[in-house]
Amino acid sequence: MRILVTAGPTREDLDPVRYLSNRSSGRMGYALAAALQRLGHQVVLVSGPVELEPPAGVERVPVWSARDMLAACRERWPDMDGLAAVAAVADYRPAKRARGKLKRAEGEGRSLELVPNPDIVRTLARRKGDRRVLGFALESSRGRAHARRKLVDKHLDWIALNGPEAQGASEATLLLLGADGSERDLGPARKELLARRLAALTFPETNA
Ligand code: C5P
Repeated sequence: MRILVTAGPTREDLDPVRYLSNRSSGRMGYALAAALQRLGHQVVLVSGPVELEPPAGVERVPVWSARDMLAACRERWPDMDGLAAVAAVADYRPAKRARGKLKRAEGEGRSLELVPNPDIVRTLARRKGDRRVLGFALESSRGRAHARRKLVDKHLDWIALNGPEAQGASEATLLLLGADGSERDLGPARKELLARRLAALTFPETNA
């Protein structure tokens, strides 16, 4: 199968030198891309800025912002058989990107207007047909109920739920919820091992 994977954070520019972002390392997405490739899939990894090398045999498409990520994914999606959305996409971006570096006004505060970013996985999964889609959710409390709602709202086949402590860490615990009502606990384990288990459960085919 041909599988699109999104990974890493996005960066939302305020001006030419400043941006809003988050602590995502991209490690889980890269590990999943590598695991899918090892299962025999053809993987395209649309990645925000991270300090990781692309896994061998995986095509990487580097992007910066959420809107860049959506554009890159839209272009590839028609040729793909599945999607794993692991990216920590910024929910908001500054309403305006200043053309020049914003100047400091001595002693004064500043407020920032933010506008929502597009939901990449939801946008793509709306037109998934019989293709399968895996999403992730980072939840602190009442995680399961929220994740189940996201599963439906974003048209996912599975959602992998983890806690905020997973961001940037090397180990994680995942709860994999299926649209069919199934639930599986994975981990705690290193992200590479979790990714292998997750890949085998979601996109198991070897005759890619
Ligand atoms: O809504 P929430 O951010 O918790 O959803 C997480 C899931 O949705 C992840 O799979 C993430 O990659 C995806 N997502 C996305 N585009 C966004 C926000 C989240 O694809 N703008």
